[in-house]
Amino acid sequence: MQITSFRKTTNLNCSSPDALIKILPEVVNQVEKKGFSVFSAWDTEADTVQKIARQFGKIMRHIRADESGITTVAQGKSWHQNSNSSQNSPIEKNEYQSYDADEVIAHTDGTFIDGMNIIDGQIVRVEPPYVVLFQCVAPAEQGGELILIDTQQVLSDMLVENAQLAKILLTPGCISFCRDDQIALDFPVFQQRFDGSLRVRINCDNKAFTPDWSYEAVKRLYEEYFKNPKYRVALKLESKDVLVIDNYRVLHGRAVYQVYNNNNIRHHRRIWVANEPPNLVKNLQEEVKMKRAFETYNSYRITSPLLEEVPFKIKGGIRLKAESEKLLPGILHDLNISGSKER
Ligand SMILES: [Fe+2]
Repeated sequence: MQITSFRKTTNLNCSSPDALIKILPEVVNQVEKKGFSVFSAWDTEADTVQKIARQFGKIMRHIRADESGITTVAQGKSWHQNSNSSQNSPIEKNEYQSYDADEVIAHTDGTFIDGMNIIDGQIVRVEPPYVVLFQCVAPAEQGGELILIDTQQVLSDMLVENAQLAKILLTPGCISFCRDDQIALDFPVFQQRFDGSLRVRINCDNKAFTPDWSYEAVKRLYEEYFKNPKYRVALKLESKDVLVIDNYRVLHGRAVYQVYNNNNIRHHRRIWVANEPPNLVKNLQEEVKMKRAFETYNSYRITSPLLEEVPFKIKGGIRLKAESEKLLPGILHDLNISGSKER
């Protein structure tokens, strides 16, 4: 697939844990401006990416992650090996695409998550991660670039040049997701947030489902926009690089890579950060009680203390250019959804 540009990662360096606090304002600035940031950290230890992630928000579990929230992304950790170490995992082999050397089509992480759980005595919404971090331990010998797509640019252009397509993709019910025991029903691809920004939720693999009326629109979004080199950037992370992605705005995928003599050396780690502050909800009878349905979301719960202070908050999500933003109210009014924003 054609790609806009290959970037030699970054000039931003962090040579020691003590230097972290000095570069993080610039990392936040870059994520808010272009949806992602890359910097070179001091080593490739798992603790390092965990420490960095906690600067931006609370760590969120993933069903394949270890206790600290880290998921290893490496073919060496194949489904077979992983299934030995987590016998109780109900995930099917075909869910383990991260470990293949094939292309991974660009997507939002956690599209299928939409629930509630109880944390520190409060009822908290469980949602896709706000920020996703990748740490490169070792790059592939050839290929394996991370492909990033800025949907802020995509939606800004689409509103001007193809309002009808944008309208379908802004309509609740246009897409649903299911993976394993998780289901997220009737979402728009682009959803308004409480602060006037929007967030994206999309993938096009076997986790995604559409009704007839939006099937072609979702296909067109991938064909006409996400495959367009204008919106795509490829990053070849080097050892010690850390990539920080605004998952409400920027999609990520991975280019195919070469495995020589069955010996894969590509090794990345991934960690999820929950939205900050977490979305709290109240039971109408003021009851805080675990329900069986909540248990499904234990695999994706926030693991950091709820009151933990977050030093470097990222103002994420899609913020449209003025020219596009002025078209949005008309479309939302037509859809009669101006009052049904996400919290
Ligand atoms: Fe992903």
